[in-house]
Amino acid sequence: MASESGKNRGFDRGKGHDAQAFHVIDYLRISITDRCNFRCAYCMPRAGVGYRPHDEILSYEEIIRFTRATARLGITRVRITGGEPLVRRQCPELVAKLAAIPGIEDLSLTTNGALLTEHAEALRDAGLSRLNISIDSLNPDRFSRITRGATLAPVLAGLEMALELGFAPVKVNAVMIPGIEDELEQFVALARENPVHVRFIEFMPIGCHQEDVRNFISRQRILEGLSRFGDLMPVDSPVGGGPARYFRFDGARGTIGFISSMSDHFCENCNRLRLTADGKLRNCLFSDDEVDIRPYINGDSMELAKVIIDSMNSKKFDRTGEKPLARTMSQIGG
Ligand code: GTP
Ligand code: 5AD
Ligand code: SF4
Repeated sequence: MASESGKNRGFDRGKGHDAQAFHVIDYLRISITDRCNFRCAYCMPRAGVGYRPHDEILSYEEIIRFTRATARLGITRVRITGGEPLVRRQCPELVAKLAAIPGIEDLSLTTNGALLTEHAEALRDAGLSRLNISIDSLNPDRFSRITRGATLAPVLAGLEMALELGFAPVKVNAVMIPGIEDELEQFVALARENPVHVRFIEFMPIGCHQEDVRNFISRQRILEGLSRFGDLMPVDSPVGGGPARYFRFDGARGTIGFISSMSDHFCENCNRLRLTADGKLRNCLFSDDEVDIRPYINGDSMELAKVIIDSMNSKKFDRTGEKPLARTMSQIGG
């Protein structure tokens, strides 16, 4: 159970999990909507995905109740995701309520950035401290191709505003799609000249809607490409606790990170639970197992706690070989 410090020190995971008995699960990713204003080729099919009807989506009140319950069980960090979280109305109001939950020490949000200039100030004032912004290309045409029609300029304006408003750290996510090798100089410049942590992410075959994207690229290939810009020194992670590993070029203000889900599994260190927008609790990105938590959120609080603990206890740490098909990334929240 949760210790006095609020951290769970790991649960008894039963037979076969002794070596992992002291895993700390302290990080919750909450997808607040399955809707998105982009159609990234690696994330969803060209035709888009059918969105869940409004009444299937958890209300903000339900999300708050659930998060309070997890905070009592050792969750200290919360990341808001989507779809695109900023397409859901009054996101800053949710942020303010999440920030006020006792035990939540780190509140962050992952966005595609398109609506950031509109909301960044309200998000900061509501208590959001960190932003991760997905920018798969710094070339307007390539960006538009990857996102199937979105425009880069507002996203870059959102990034600039995030820095001006003092969000820290600000991280940029770039999934390693063929063509990115030709943009390394621009990404390196972004991380040299700004306090921005550029993370190159290996594509994960989740939902398997990759019809437009082939030949994914490994960390090793990008590392080789980056070597022409100087020596990359390993550095500590900026605030986050996620799976990325970070490096810095001499004199750079920001860092270069890698999320190598496929070539260098990091499951054994996983500290996460996920809540989908339609109220399913998932304990692994790579598994289709999920629990319908909504009835428990609206029921007895002891029962709710028990189901959350069961999900923590049944978490496995070696599933990257699996091929989850039930949901796209946008329906899980990454
Ligand atoms: P912080 O460390 O809190 O900044 O967050 P993050 O980097 O984990 O979050 P973000 O939403 O920016 O996700 C970046 C990439 O990491 C996305 O491609 C996610 O799908 C991936 N990712 C996040 N958590 C996990 C995880 O538990 N397992 C795997 N395999 N990938 C993850
Ligand atoms: N593989 C790796 N990263 C992905 N993302 C979305 N789909 C995938 C995938 N199949 C990333 C997005 C965003 C984050 C939430 O997840 O680019 O930055
Ligand atoms: Fe939307 Fe993010 Fe998926 Fe792109 S990766 S379609 S921005 S949810």
